[in-house]
Amino acid sequence: MTDLHDARVFVTRRIPEAGLRKVTESCAAEVWPEPLPPGREILLDKIRGCQGVLTLLTDRVDAEFMDVAGPQLRVVSNFAVGYNNIDVVEATRRGIRVGNTPGVLTDATADMALALLIAAARRIVEAQDFVRAGHWKTWEPLGHIGQDLTGATLGIVGMGRIGLSMARRCQGGWGMRILYHDQYASETAERELGARQVDFDTLLAESDFVSVHTDLNPTTQGMFNRAAFAKMKPTAVFVNSARGPLHVQRDLYEALRDGVIFAAGLDVTDPEPILLDDPLLTLPNCVIAPHIASATVSSRNGMAEIAADNLLAGLSGQPLRCWVNRPE
Ligand code: GLV
Repeated sequence: MTDLHDARVFVTRRIPEAGLRKVTESCAAEVWPEPLPPGREILLDKIRGCQGVLTLLTDRVDAEFMDVAGPQLRVVSNFAVGYNNIDVVEATRRGIRVGNTPGVLTDATADMALALLIAAARRIVEAQDFVRAGHWKTWEPLGHIGQDLTGATLGIVGMGRIGLSMARRCQGGWGMRILYHDQYASETAERELGARQVDFDTLLAESDFVSVHTDLNPTTQGMFNRAAFAKMKPTAVFVNSARGPLHVQRDLYEALRDGVIFAAGLDVTDPEPILLDDPLLTLPNCVIAPHIASATVSSRNGMAEIAADNLLAGLSGQPLRCWVNRPE
């Protein structure tokens, strides 16, 4: 690889040593040391004159970012599989390579979706609150009744790597029938799991559990709105471990409050972090985690290694390991 010791790089947050060390040992890197992201002004100041930037999903990489960085910017390496924070079209137009970190977080994210599904269906967090508040007086034949998983129908929106992994868990573990909605047919899901590709309305109407695994883009933003929730079963559980803006949060709140659907499990919200006065936080039938689906040792180490490799490859003009805007 080319000698990169003079290459200026900004890393917008500390990432696991598995990747950070590679970056700091190979180039002239500055690493933002604080637990909270740099504010916009600081970020723009830090990236000025950089050849590479290692970003997080909380950093907006738009035309302004690229203008301020300057024409020598060669690579933006995102420490995430999703890259909705990056204007990829603009980066491509300017010849800036964009990298992401798919694969290594697939199982961890599917595990999280499943955990949220079960927690919401079986009311686990609400039950724990009940215990801690000292309300547990006796075994209740009519108390804390949730939804069954066995033999239920799972609707996957976005049958990519993570959607498939979630479907495998639910089919293998509980014999669920799998429906999916995606612009592409998944030959693997159909052959291996007997999954059926359906339109969005059919998926909403027939699924007991709806789990979202699609990317966020202008066509998917807000797809889970009042009209969509109204088409779901009143016993249905909605799970979002992808991106918050895929659902309309006020509409989700009203659907949960009014019993239009049974419960929800969210690893993502809109905005993030969720505002403390968001009414969703008052509902017992909504389980919320702070965007932690990839937070396991091997996933985060794997993400760090890929992000570092992408950055270094981009700096030296080599193909990125995971290259979002790879030329055709
Ligand atoms: C996390 O949300 C990611 O996209 O990796």
